[in-house]
Amino acid sequence: MCGIVGYTGPRQASRILVEGLKRLEYRGYDSAGIAVQRPADAGSPLAVIKRKGKIAELRSAVPKDLPGTCGIGHTRWATHGGVTDANAHPHCDASGKVAVVHNGIIENHVALRETLEKEGAVFKSETDSEVIAHLVAFYYKGDLEEALRAALRHLTGTYGIACIHSDEPGRIVGARNGSPLVVGVGSGEMFLASDVTAMLAHTRQVVYLNDREVVSMSADDFRIADLEENAVDPKIDRIEWDLEEIEKEGFACYMEKEIFEQAESVPRALSGRVDRENGTAKLGGLNLTRKELHAIERVRVIAAGTSWHAGLVGAYILESLARVPVVAELASELRYRNPVVEPNTLYLAVSQSGETADTLFAMREVQRRGATVLGICNVVGSTIARESDGGIYVHSGPEIAVASTKAFTSQLAAFYLLGLLLARTHDLSHAEGVRFIKQLDAIPEAIKGALATRDKVQAIAKKYARSGDWLFLGRGILYPIALEGALKLKEISYAHAEGCGAGEMKHGTIALVDAETPSVFLVPSGHLREKTISNIKEIKARGGPVIAVADSDDREVESLADDFIGVPPVDALFQPFTQIVPLQMLAYFVALELGRDVDQPRNLAKSVTVE
Ligand code: G6P
Repeated sequence: MCGIVGYTGPRQASRILVEGLKRLEYRGYDSAGIAVQRPADAGSPLAVIKRKGKIAELRSAVPKDLPGTCGIGHTRWATHGGVTDANAHPHCDASGKVAVVHNGIIENHVALRETLEKEGAVFKSETDSEVIAHLVAFYYKGDLEEALRAALRHLTGTYGIACIHSDEPGRIVGARNGSPLVVGVGSGEMFLASDVTAMLAHTRQVVYLNDREVVSMSADDFRIADLEENAVDPKIDRIEWDLEEIEKEGFACYMEKEIFEQAESVPRALSGRVDRENGTAKLGGLNLTRKELHAIERVRVIAAGTSWHAGLVGAYILESLARVPVVAELASELRYRNPVVEPNTLYLAVSQSGETADTLFAMREVQRRGATVLGICNVVGSTIARESDGGIYVHSGPEIAVASTKAFTSQLAAFYLLGLLLARTHDLSHAEGVRFIKQLDAIPEAIKGALATRDKVQAIAKKYARSGDWLFLGRGILYPIALEGALKLKEISYAHAEGCGAGEMKHGTIALVDAETPSVFLVPSGHLREKTISNIKEIKARGGPVIAVADSDDREVESLADDFIGVPPVDALFQPFTQIVPLQMLAYFVALELGRDVDQPRNLAKSVTVE
């Protein structure tokens, strides 16, 4: 959730570090800093500049001509200690020769701090991370890698660390345990970052570190070894994402761009994975034989946030298509519940980033008990993707806005494919499989149609933007969409929004209904339509304004609702695609109306790599 970047090479390090941090800002953004080795003067303290606030604050504090060609940087999302200049990273030892940036949480930092203070260390921040700088300094005897290894032996918790020492010009040492770290291999220069986006402008050759690995790099060399000092043969991967893909391309913000990209990102998730002839799906990365697929008796989804909502939709799809029981579990609950792993159960870890700590640790917990876990991830090479037993990449491209949009619809696409494949190994007929594929083929156009409601949605957003409370109501497969619509609005507008099963509303939520509280109804086209219309009438009878999202030809709903958003009609099973799009836009336009920071909402981070 925080971001790390490091550079060593012939160029001015400060520029590359600040530019890299700017690209990582979405991971955490309450303060930032850099530490650079002073070139002419090896042995003198490092140049360290830290600022509370966004990267722009740091950028204006860094002298344009700051010399030095090796350094590290960090953008922070506070966990231990408030948002202050002092708590920003990098953290240094007393001499100012060691600088450390850290992602994760050092659980035993209080005890370590007490011991170090007894040894004379003076702490300048309230962070858990600062103990690492003092520990490295304590063990330093002319070899930074050795000193970091010695320090790591004392640390309990999670870390991605980058570290420099002024006595070792051009060297960066890093370590990973639970927080991602990637080496970027350039020509005559090296990078280290928590996320490839920080170095994509400079290199596409990367090496993902595994947990319990340490890297030591100079401008033209690097070596990786595990904590026991066994050398690791580095596997160099090539990043295929384009930098333009992570630029805004003329949109006001990333979230808007990502919402409008969905007509292209969903087909990317489906591309090459449909077997029209046999009416099934081809998912090469699952690493499961037909027999193993056939033997699956139940499925459990592990996820958090928006990915959990995708899992709830997925549960509905898999259950109704493949007739296997499915439960979507909150990773943060599952991991501490002493879970029972039943035989013939397939686990699916769903995560855009592939780094969410709760999901990762829940996955490891069930793997420890013998479970097979497939990952449904967006970020290629992410920890969940690498540690799962197989999986599906959703290929939505980099998602930068904190509020997830295009990754969600791509995760849905993955579930439809998996549902089809599982169903065809169970009871679904060839003809039904072919029919299903036809419906799936129509989805990208339907998403385009849903995006075309933009002006209507913007007008509705303007009308209701000042409402402090919102209800989102849906049934069946649209119930998770109601949850996701409410989450989107909360995340970026800070309005209170509640997602509720439309049938459950009468058991409590209806007490909230008044003339000031809009109810957003997601109207299904199938057998639950009539029931939902009754619920709309119940709200209307109590004076609540109703915004309805329904098939564009549904005149009855149009005449009942105060405001109507008509989306292209699709089969009821596929409505999550068409109905979530206007809800994403609604949240976006309400937030815009209220002048919120859409891409970087307060208190949130894109990838939550702490508990
Ligand atoms: C954070 C983000 C959410 C996201 C959730 C799960 O809370 O702000 O947008 O849905 O993490 O992230 P994942 O990367 O695992 O999908």
